Amino acid sequence: GNNYSYDWIVKETNFTRLCSTKKILTINGMFPGPALHVHKGDTLVVNVQNDANYNITLHWHGVKQPRNPWSDGPEYITQCPIKPGANFSYEIIFSSEEGTLWWHAHSDWSRATVHGPIFVYPKAGTTYPFPEPYAELPVVMASWNKGDVMEIIQDALATGGEPNQSDALTINGQPGDLYPCSKPGTFKAVVDYGKTYLLRVINAILNEEMFLAVANHTLTVVGMDGAYIKPLETSYIMITPGQTMDVLVTANQSPSHYYLAARAYAGLVYDNTTTTAIFQYNGSYNAPENPAFPNLPNYTDIDAATNFTTQFKALASEEHPIDVPISVDKRIIITISLNTIACASNSCDGPNNSSLASSLNNISFVTPEIDILQAYYRGLEGVYDTDFPREPPYVFNYTADVVPDDYLTPEINGTKVLVLKHNSSVEIVFQGTNVLASAENHPMHLHGFNFYVVGSGFGNFDNETDPKSYNLVDPPEMNTVGIPTSGWAAIRFKADNPGVWFMHCHLEKHASWGMETVVIVRNGKTEATRLRPPPSYLNPC
Ligand code: C2O
Ligand code: CU
Repeated sequence: GNNYSYDWIVKETNFTRLCSTKKILTINGMFPGPALHVHKGDTLVVNVQNDANYNITLHWHGVKQPRNPWSDGPEYITQCPIKPGANFSYEIIFSSEEGTLWWHAHSDWSRATVHGPIFVYPKAGTTYPFPEPYAELPVVMASWNKGDVMEIIQDALATGGEPNQSDALTINGQPGDLYPCSKPGTFKAVVDYGKTYLLRVINAILNEEMFLAVANHTLTVVGMDGAYIKPLETSYIMITPGQTMDVLVTANQSPSHYYLAARAYAGLVYDNTTTTAIFQYNGSYNAPENPAFPNLPNYTDIDAATNFTTQFKALASEEHPIDVPISVDKRIIITISLNTIACASNSCDGPNNSSLASSLNNISFVTPEIDILQAYYRGLEGVYDTDFPREPPYVFNYTADVVPDDYLTPEINGTKVLVLKHNSSVEIVFQGTNVLASAENHPMHLHGFNFYVVGSGFGNFDNETDPKSYNLVDPPEMNTVGIPTSGWAAIRFKADNPGVWFMHCHLEKHASWGMETVVIVRNGKTEATRLRPPPSYLNPC
């Protein structure tokens, strides 16, 4: 592969959206941030200089970074923040990924505006496993907040309530023409009749899963999370925060303007969720006053979401084989809960004067003050515990309508990590629970790996029967899997990447409430299976 290096400056820059101007955190003054174009096998160095007033770190979402968690980025997990005036160089190693990924800030809620696409092209001399598209079009969806996004989450944590909703969702930085003052900037995907385009779709939104469609056009999904899938024809996609999809669309309708539109799925009910771009044919014709609008599923349409998501199958070809563990050393079951805890002050905004919280296996993650990677590498005591439970410590009918009253009792706060032996074959079953009535999907994301999604279903996972229906032939590879509302999903992977890897819900508010943990994969016996030594410079805590 090739080596490239880039210089990125973190700075605050004025942007005008929704009729008002405010400063946002950016890289090089851009929103969305700069796109990275690489080939499989390349290595990038990104030199980051922080000229803003916030601490920041950057994460390369979906890049496995073999043996190199030092450049993975989550704040206080693999590094201490790059403070105002400081700098850090990330070394980003592209090993086996191919397709669309993204990068984003990984400190507080700074990823709201600090993110951008990563396009990983096939190695020189190899091609896509589908006909070469005529051109590619990024479709980066994000959240726009009129207020300061860091304050929004700090206020929510202080009062125990829901964080304020975003004021708009955006496509390539633009809310689109359904929002006030947004028409002139609306993103236009300009296409030639008869040509096929590769949409590089990224859900960088803070808290909403999205349905997306192009009016009158069929979409063919060919990749997801940097891995190829068997081509999937569909009239819409559903994509969770954290996920990326490679989608082919052929401009084969009568030349005109069509809406490319997206709206939230199963978010809290609010009206501000439809974001638009224009899919606009080149040529001379009378552009319609109102372009055709796609048939997007309703925000409550669980069937539309499930039907789409459960169709994914890995390409599993000779050039792109899969390597799913057929048997596993241990099945780890992790319950995912939204819940409430006692109010710290006298009045809190959660249900019945409580504070909202969340947990994995009843542990609400506490972010340490020194990064876990350094503590692990140097053997520092007292930063984390290695007793993350491998079974739910509190067993109940997880997806029943009524949750036992004493549920809250065993909830604990802690920095507990899950330790895995090098090269062990791992299965994790994520089990959703209905502790708070507003059951939501949880897009669970693991750093350092792609995993195979071998099964999913509604209700409670059944140890006896459910594994019998696993797909071990062509399960899709992902780095972020949506755990269905009132249901479960099972993933498998080989713990072959030594290091410290964050695992969390990619809904930012759930993560802030504690729906996070860390996976430590031990070193192997040979030099090539050990964690790399740290870079010569690390940011002090
Ligand atoms: Cu997309 Cu922990 O990140
Ligand atoms: Cu969640």
